[in-house]
Amino acid sequence: MAATKFMEVMDGKTVFPPPIWMMRQAGRYLPEYRELRAKAGSFLDLCYNPDFAVEVTLQPIRRFHFDAAILFSDILVVPHALGRDLRFEEGRGPVLTPIKADEVDALGRVDTFHERLAPVYETVRRLKDELPDDVSLIGFCGAPWTVATYMIAGHGTPDQAPGRLFGYSDPHLMDALLDVLAVRSADYLIRQIEAGADAVQIFDSWSGVLDEACFERWCVAPVAKMVKIVRERCGNIPIIGFPKGAGCFADSYRAKTGITAQGLDWTVPMTKARTLQEAGPVQGNLDPMRLRAGGKALEEGVDRILEELGRGPLVFNLGHGITPQVPVSHVEALVKRVRQAEG
Ligand code: CP3
Repeated sequence: MAATKFMEVMDGKTVFPPPIWMMRQAGRYLPEYRELRAKAGSFLDLCYNPDFAVEVTLQPIRRFHFDAAILFSDILVVPHALGRDLRFEEGRGPVLTPIKADEVDALGRVDTFHERLAPVYETVRRLKDELPDDVSLIGFCGAPWTVATYMIAGHGTPDQAPGRLFGYSDPHLMDALLDVLAVRSADYLIRQIEAGADAVQIFDSWSGVLDEACFERWCVAPVAKMVKIVRERCGNIPIIGFPKGAGCFADSYRAKTGITAQGLDWTVPMTKARTLQEAGPVQGNLDPMRLRAGGKALEEGVDRILEELGRGPLVFNLGHGITPQVPVSHVEALVKRVRQAEG
Protein backbone atom coordinates (compact mmCIF):
# COMPACT_ATOMS: atom_id res chain seq x y z
CA MET A 1 0.00 0.00 0.00
CA ALA A 2 1.33 3.45 -0.91
CA ALA A 3 2.07 5.69 2.06
CA THR A 4 -0.78 8.08 2.77
CA LYS A 5 -0.14 11.82 2.91
CA PHE A 6 -0.71 11.63 6.65
CA MET A 7 1.93 8.90 7.09
CA GLU A 8 4.39 10.80 4.93
CA VAL A 9 4.11 13.75 7.27
CA MET A 10 4.51 11.45 10.27
CA ASP A 11 7.70 10.34 8.56
CA GLY A 12 8.96 13.93 8.66
CA LYS A 13 8.22 14.82 5.05
CA THR A 14 6.65 18.07 3.90
CA VAL A 15 3.44 17.55 1.93
CA PHE A 16 1.62 20.53 0.44
CA PRO A 17 -1.29 21.02 0.62
CA PRO A 18 -1.00 19.26 3.98
CA PRO A 19 -3.15 16.30 5.00
CA ILE A 20 -6.15 17.31 7.11
CA TRP A 21 -8.40 15.77 9.74
CA MET A 22 -10.28 17.32 12.69
CA MET A 23 -10.34 16.36 16.33
CA ARG A 24 -13.86 15.18 17.23
CA GLN A 25 -14.66 14.91 13.52
CA ALA A 26 -17.24 12.21 14.29
CA GLY A 27 -19.89 13.93 16.36
CA ARG A 28 -22.88 16.11 16.91
CA TYR A 29 -22.21 18.78 14.26
CA LEU A 30 -23.09 16.07 11.70
CA PRO A 31 -26.84 15.50 11.10
CA GLU A 32 -26.18 11.85 10.23
CA TYR A 33 -24.46 11.39 13.61
CA ARG A 34 -27.34 13.02 15.49
CA GLU A 35 -29.83 10.85 13.65
CA LEU A 36 -28.10 7.58 14.55
CA ARG A 37 -27.36 8.81 18.07
CA ALA A 38 -31.06 9.59 18.70
CA LYS A 39 -32.06 6.04 17.79
CA ALA A 40 -29.42 4.40 19.94
CA GLY A 41 -28.86 3.93 23.68
CA SER A 42 -26.39 5.60 25.99
CA PHE A 43 -23.22 7.19 24.63
CA LEU A 44 -21.07 4.66 26.47
CA ASP A 45 -22.99 1.71 25.00
CA LEU A 46 -22.25 3.19 21.60
CA CYS A 47 -18.52 3.30 22.27
CA TYR A 48 -18.71 -0.47 22.83
CA ASN A 49 -20.92 -1.13 19.81
CA PRO A 50 -18.70 -1.84 16.78
CA ASP A 51 -21.57 -1.46 14.28
CA PHE A 52 -22.27 2.04 15.53
CA ALA A 53 -18.66 3.03 16.16
CA VAL A 54 -17.53 1.92 12.69
CA GLU A 55 -20.40 3.75 11.01
CA VAL A 56 -19.88 7.07 12.81
CA THR A 57 -16.11 6.92 12.31
CA LEU A 58 -16.76 6.63 8.57
CA GLN A 59 -19.39 9.41 8.39
CA PRO A 60 -16.96 12.36 8.24
CA ILE A 61 -14.69 10.43 5.85
CA ARG A 62 -17.55 9.94 3.38
CA ARG A 63 -18.53 13.58 3.58
CA PHE A 64 -15.15 15.32 3.54
CA HIS A 65 -12.67 12.58 2.59
CA PHE A 66 -10.33 13.59 5.40
CA ASP A 67 -6.81 12.16 5.23
CA ALA A 68 -7.24 10.37 8.54
CA ALA A 69 -10.08 8.76 10.47
CA ILE A 70 -10.05 8.70 14.26
CA LEU A 71 -11.55 5.74 16.01
CA PHE A 72 -14.90 6.62 17.56
CA SER A 73 -14.65 6.02 21.31
CA ASP A 74 -13.86 8.13 24.37
CA ILE A 75 -10.84 8.63 26.60
CA LEU A 76 -12.91 7.58 29.63
CA VAL A 77 -13.39 3.98 28.50
CA VAL A 78 -10.01 3.30 30.18
CA PRO A 79 -11.18 4.07 33.74
CA HIS A 80 -14.49 2.38 32.88
CA ALA A 81 -12.69 -0.80 31.82
CA LEU A 82 -10.76 -0.56 35.09
CA GLY A 83 -14.06 -0.91 36.92
CA ARG A 84 -14.84 2.76 37.67
CA ASP A 85 -18.45 3.60 37.08
CA LEU A 86 -19.16 6.11 34.36
CA ARG A 87 -22.14 7.60 32.63
CA PHE A 88 -22.60 10.48 30.23
CA GLU A 89 -25.38 12.89 31.14
CA GLU A 90 -27.04 15.08 28.54
CA GLY A 91 -25.77 18.63 28.91
CA ARG A 92 -23.39 17.69 31.73
CA GLY A 93 -20.87 15.37 30.15
CA PRO A 94 -19.16 12.49 31.96
CA VAL A 95 -20.06 11.61 35.55
CA LEU A 96 -17.91 9.18 37.57
CA THR A 97 -17.73 8.21 41.23
CA PRO A 98 -14.64 10.08 42.51
CA ILE A 99 -11.84 7.65 43.27
CA LYS A 100 -10.79 7.26 46.93
CA ALA A 101 -7.24 6.87 48.17
CA ASP A 102 -7.70 3.20 49.08
CA GLU A 103 -9.08 2.34 45.64
CA VAL A 104 -6.00 3.24 43.58
CA ASP A 105 -4.05 0.09 44.34
CA ALA A 106 -6.78 -2.20 43.04
CA LEU A 107 -6.64 -0.66 39.54
CA GLY A 108 -3.42 -2.55 38.89
CA ARG A 109 -5.08 -5.89 39.63
CA VAL A 110 -8.12 -5.65 37.34
CA ASP A 111 -7.87 -8.61 34.97
CA THR A 112 -10.90 -7.92 32.75
CA PHE A 113 -9.46 -4.76 31.20
CA HIS A 114 -8.90 -6.02 27.64
CA GLU A 115 -12.02 -8.16 27.75
CA ARG A 116 -14.09 -5.05 28.41
CA LEU A 117 -12.30 -3.16 25.66
CA ALA A 118 -12.56 -5.99 23.13
CA PRO A 119 -15.37 -4.22 21.20
CA VAL A 120 -13.05 -1.24 20.66
CA TYR A 121 -10.38 -3.53 19.19
CA GLU A 122 -13.07 -5.10 16.99
CA THR A 123 -14.04 -1.61 15.78
CA VAL A 124 -10.42 -0.89 14.83
CA ARG A 125 -10.13 -4.21 12.93
CA ARG A 126 -13.29 -3.53 10.96
CA LEU A 127 -12.30 0.07 10.21
CA LYS A 128 -8.95 -1.06 8.90
CA ASP A 129 -10.83 -3.20 6.34
CA GLU A 130 -13.40 -0.60 5.43
CA LEU A 131 -11.37 2.58 5.13
CA PRO A 132 -10.13 3.66 1.68
CA ASP A 133 -6.39 3.04 1.17
CA ASP A 134 -5.55 6.75 1.18
CA VAL A 135 -7.09 7.34 4.63
CA SER A 136 -5.01 6.55 7.73
CA LEU A 137 -6.57 5.22 10.91
CA ILE A 138 -5.72 6.94 14.19
CA GLY A 139 -6.27 5.19 17.52
CA PHE A 140 -6.19 7.18 20.73
CA CYS A 141 -6.38 7.39 24.48
CA GLY A 142 -6.25 10.10 27.10
CA ALA A 143 -2.98 10.96 28.82
CA PRO A 144 -2.81 9.74 32.44
CA TRP A 145 -3.13 13.24 33.95
CA THR A 146 -6.19 14.16 31.90
CA VAL A 147 -7.93 10.85 32.61
CA ALA A 148 -7.01 11.12 36.30
CA THR A 149 -8.61 14.57 36.58
CA TYR A 150 -12.00 13.08 35.66
CA MET A 151 -11.49 10.07 37.96
CA ILE A 152 -10.67 12.38 40.87
CA ALA A 153 -13.29 15.12 40.39
CA GLY A 154 -15.97 12.78 39.05
CA HIS A 155 -16.87 15.27 36.31
CA GLY A 156 -15.38 17.97 34.13
CA THR A 157 -14.25 21.17 35.88
CA PRO A 158 -12.95 24.44 34.41
CA ASP A 159 -9.47 24.21 35.98
CA GLN A 160 -9.10 20.70 37.39
CA ALA A 161 -8.69 22.09 40.90
CA PRO A 162 -9.71 18.76 42.50
CA GLY A 163 -7.00 16.91 40.56
CA ARG A 164 -4.33 19.44 41.46
CA LEU A 165 -5.35 19.39 45.11
CA PHE A 166 -5.28 15.58 45.15
CA GLY A 167 -1.74 15.61 43.75
CA TYR A 168 -0.44 18.24 46.19
CA SER A 169 -2.09 16.55 49.16
CA ASP A 170 -0.71 13.10 48.40
CA PRO A 171 2.01 13.20 45.73
CA HIS A 172 2.85 9.52 46.06
CA LEU A 173 -0.75 8.48 45.58
CA MET A 174 -0.93 10.71 42.50
CA ASP A 175 2.25 9.09 41.14
CA ALA A 176 0.70 5.66 41.74
CA LEU A 177 -2.53 6.61 39.98
CA LEU A 178 -0.69 8.09 37.00
CA ASP A 179 1.62 5.11 36.84
CA VAL A 180 -1.16 2.55 36.65
CA LEU A 181 -2.97 4.66 34.05
CA ALA A 182 0.23 4.97 31.99
CA VAL A 183 0.79 1.21 31.95
CA ARG A 184 -2.85 0.39 31.17
CA SER A 185 -3.21 3.13 28.56
CA ALA A 186 -0.02 2.03 26.80
CA ASP A 187 -1.36 -1.52 26.73
CA TYR A 188 -4.63 -0.20 25.32
CA LEU A 189 -2.78 1.63 22.53
CA ILE A 190 -0.69 -1.46 21.75
CA ARG A 191 -3.89 -3.48 21.25
CA GLN A 192 -5.30 -0.77 18.97
CA ILE A 193 -2.09 -0.80 16.93
CA GLU A 194 -2.12 -4.59 16.73
CA ALA A 195 -5.74 -4.38 15.54
CA GLY A 196 -4.72 -2.06 12.71
CA ALA A 197 -4.34 1.55 13.86
CA ASP A 198 -1.71 3.28 11.70
CA ALA A 199 -0.91 5.90 14.34
CA VAL A 200 -2.11 6.86 17.82
CA GLN A 201 -2.80 10.15 19.57
CA ILE A 202 -2.45 10.79 23.30
CA PHE A 203 -4.87 13.55 24.37
CA ASP A 204 -3.59 15.59 27.33
CA SER A 205 -6.47 18.06 27.21
CA TRP A 206 -5.79 19.41 30.71
CA SER A 207 -2.02 19.77 30.71
CA GLY A 208 -2.40 23.55 30.55
CA VAL A 209 -3.55 24.01 34.17
CA LEU A 210 -0.29 22.93 35.81
CA ASP A 211 2.81 24.69 37.04
CA GLU A 212 6.15 23.68 35.59
CA ALA A 213 7.07 21.11 38.23
CA CYS A 214 3.71 19.36 38.01
CA PHE A 215 3.70 19.49 34.23
CA GLU A 216 7.00 17.57 34.29
CA ARG A 217 5.87 15.04 36.88
CA TRP A 218 2.22 14.53 35.92
CA CYS A 219 2.24 15.10 32.15
CA VAL A 220 5.73 14.61 30.73
CA ALA A 221 6.86 11.63 32.82
CA PRO A 222 3.74 9.44 32.42
CA VAL A 223 3.51 10.13 28.67
CA ALA A 224 7.24 9.33 28.31
CA LYS A 225 6.59 6.05 30.09
CA MET A 226 3.69 5.25 27.75
CA VAL A 227 5.72 6.03 24.65
CA LYS A 228 8.54 3.79 25.88
CA ILE A 229 6.17 0.85 26.48
CA VAL A 230 4.43 1.30 23.11
CA ARG A 231 7.73 1.59 21.23
CA GLU A 232 9.19 -1.51 22.89
CA ARG A 233 6.33 -3.47 21.40
CA CYS A 234 5.38 -1.58 18.23
CA GLY A 235 8.64 0.04 17.12
CA ASN A 236 8.44 3.27 15.23
CA ILE A 237 4.66 3.64 15.09
CA PRO A 238 3.71 7.34 14.82
CA ILE A 239 2.58 8.75 18.17
CA ILE A 240 1.00 12.20 18.29
CA GLY A 241 1.24 13.94 21.66
CA PHE A 242 -1.22 16.72 22.37
CA PRO A 243 -0.39 18.68 25.53
CA LYS A 244 -3.23 21.16 25.18
CA GLY A 245 -2.69 24.58 26.70
CA ALA A 246 0.90 23.83 27.65
CA GLY A 247 2.51 26.03 25.01
CA CYS A 248 4.90 27.66 27.44
CA PHE A 249 6.33 24.23 28.33
CA ALA A 250 6.09 22.84 24.81
CA ASP A 251 9.76 23.17 23.81
CA SER A 252 11.07 20.00 25.36
CA TYR A 253 7.89 17.91 25.26
CA ARG A 254 8.81 15.98 22.12
CA ALA A 255 12.40 15.35 23.21
CA LYS A 256 11.41 14.27 26.71
CA THR A 257 8.45 12.06 25.80
CA GLY A 258 9.66 10.55 22.53
CA ILE A 259 6.48 11.37 20.61
CA THR A 260 6.64 11.56 16.81
CA ALA A 261 4.42 14.57 16.19
CA GLN A 262 3.28 17.38 18.45
CA GLY A 263 -0.31 18.63 18.52
CA LEU A 264 -0.63 22.39 18.99
CA ASP A 265 -3.57 24.40 20.19
CA TRP A 266 -4.28 27.85 18.76
CA THR A 267 -2.59 29.74 21.62
CA VAL A 268 0.85 28.49 20.59
CA PRO A 269 2.61 31.40 18.84
CA MET A 270 3.67 30.73 15.25
CA THR A 271 7.32 31.49 15.98
CA LYS A 272 7.27 28.75 18.62
CA ALA A 273 5.30 26.43 16.35
CA ARG A 274 7.95 26.82 13.65
CA THR A 275 10.75 26.07 16.09
CA LEU A 276 8.89 22.95 17.24
CA GLN A 277 8.45 21.96 13.61
CA GLU A 278 12.20 22.06 13.06
CA ALA A 279 12.38 19.06 15.40
CA GLY A 280 9.59 17.13 13.65
CA PRO A 281 5.97 17.10 12.48
CA VAL A 282 3.37 19.34 14.09
CA GLN A 283 -0.42 19.12 14.00
CA GLY A 284 -2.94 21.90 14.41
CA ASN A 285 -3.83 24.55 15.21
CA LEU A 286 -6.93 26.43 14.02
CA ASP A 287 -9.14 27.89 16.75
CA PRO A 288 -12.41 25.91 16.56
CA MET A 289 -14.25 29.22 17.01
CA ARG A 290 -12.80 30.47 13.72
CA LEU A 291 -14.39 27.41 12.14
CA ARG A 292 -17.68 28.13 13.86
CA ALA A 293 -17.61 31.80 12.80
CA GLY A 294 -16.73 30.95 9.18
CA GLY A 295 -16.07 33.59 6.50
CA LYS A 296 -13.05 35.87 6.93
CA ALA A 297 -12.19 34.58 10.40
CA LEU A 298 -11.91 31.08 9.00
CA GLU A 299 -10.05 32.07 5.84
CA GLU A 300 -7.50 34.21 7.67
CA GLY A 301 -6.88 31.50 10.26
CA VAL A 302 -6.34 28.82 7.62
CA ASP A 303 -4.10 31.00 5.45
CA ARG A 304 -1.89 31.99 8.35
CA ILE A 305 -1.29 28.37 9.39
CA LEU A 306 -0.51 27.36 5.81
CA GLU A 307 1.86 30.29 5.37
CA GLU A 308 3.67 29.81 8.66
CA LEU A 309 3.74 26.02 8.90
CA GLY A 310 3.07 24.81 5.35
CA ARG A 311 6.76 24.68 4.42
CA GLY A 312 7.48 21.94 6.95
CA PRO A 313 5.86 18.70 8.09
CA LEU A 314 2.29 19.69 9.02
CA VAL A 315 -0.97 17.86 9.59
CA PHE A 316 -3.69 20.48 9.36
CA ASN A 317 -6.14 20.20 12.26
CA LEU A 318 -8.07 22.30 14.71
CA GLY A 319 -6.40 23.35 17.96
CA HIS A 320 -9.07 21.35 19.85
CA GLY A 321 -12.25 19.45 19.03
CA ILE A 322 -14.94 20.77 16.71
CA THR A 323 -17.99 21.98 18.64
CA PRO A 324 -21.54 20.73 17.97
CA GLN A 325 -22.78 24.11 16.67
CA VAL A 326 -20.40 24.29 13.69
CA PRO A 327 -22.32 24.38 10.36
CA VAL A 328 -21.33 21.57 7.99
CA SER A 329 -20.84 24.20 5.26
CA HIS A 330 -18.00 25.74 7.30
CA VAL A 331 -16.21 22.40 7.42
CA GLU A 332 -16.64 22.11 3.66
CA ALA A 333 -15.14 25.60 3.27
CA LEU A 334 -12.21 24.68 5.53
CA VAL A 335 -11.37 21.49 3.63
CA LYS A 336 -11.67 23.28 0.30
CA ARG A 337 -9.40 26.13 1.36
CA VAL A 338 -6.71 23.79 2.67
CA ARG A 339 -6.85 21.49 -0.37
CA GLN A 340 -6.84 24.32 -2.91
CA ALA A 341 -3.92 26.10 -1.31
CA GLU A 342 -0.93 26.79 -3.52
CA GLY A 343 2.59 26.46 -2.20
O1 CP3 B 1 -12.51 12.78 17.65
C1 CP3 B 1 -13.38 11.94 17.35
O2 CP3 B 1 -14.21 12.12 16.44
C2 CP3 B 1 -13.35 10.60 18.06
C3 CP3 B 1 -14.14 10.51 19.21
C4 CP3 B 1 -13.80 11.20 20.53
C5 CP3 B 1 -14.80 11.47 21.49
N1 CP3 B 1 -14.18 11.91 22.62
C6 CP3 B 1 -16.24 11.26 21.28
C7 CP3 B 1 -17.20 11.97 22.15
C8 CP3 B 1 -12.56 11.56 21.08
C9 CP3 B 1 -11.17 11.54 20.47
C10 CP3 B 1 -12.83 12.01 22.41
C11 CP3 B 1 -11.77 12.44 23.33
C12 CP3 B 1 -12.15 13.00 24.63
N2 CP3 B 1 -13.21 12.67 25.43
C13 CP3 B 1 -11.36 13.96 25.30
C14 CP3 B 1 -10.04 14.53 24.82
C15 CP3 B 1 -10.22 15.53 23.77
C16 CP3 B 1 -10.89 16.79 24.24
O3 CP3 B 1 -11.95 17.10 23.68
O4 CP3 B 1 -10.32 17.45 25.12
C17 CP3 B 1 -12.02 14.25 26.52
C18 CP3 B 1 -11.55 15.24 27.59
C19 CP3 B 1 -13.17 13.43 26.60
C20 CP3 B 1 -14.15 13.32 27.71
C21 CP3 B 1 -15.49 13.70 27.29
N3 CP3 B 1 -16.29 12.96 26.44
C22 CP3 B 1 -16.22 14.85 27.66
C23 CP3 B 1 -15.71 15.94 28.58
C24 CP3 B 1 -17.47 14.78 27.02
C25 CP3 B 1 -18.60 15.73 27.20
C26 CP3 B 1 -18.44 16.95 26.39
C27 CP3 B 1 -19.10 16.78 25.07
O5 CP3 B 1 -18.48 17.12 24.05
O6 CP3 B 1 -20.26 16.31 25.06
C28 CP3 B 1 -17.48 13.61 26.22
C29 CP3 B 1 -18.57 13.13 25.36
C30 CP3 B 1 -18.26 12.78 23.96
N4 CP3 B 1 -17.14 12.16 23.51
C31 CP3 B 1 -19.12 13.01 22.83
C32 CP3 B 1 -18.46 12.50 21.71
C33 CP3 B 1 -18.98 12.46 20.28
C34 CP3 B 1 -20.51 13.63 22.91
C35 CP3 B 1 -21.50 12.66 23.47
C36 CP3 B 1 -22.72 12.43 22.60
O7 CP3 B 1 -22.62 12.31 21.38
O8 CP3 B 1 -23.79 12.31 23.20
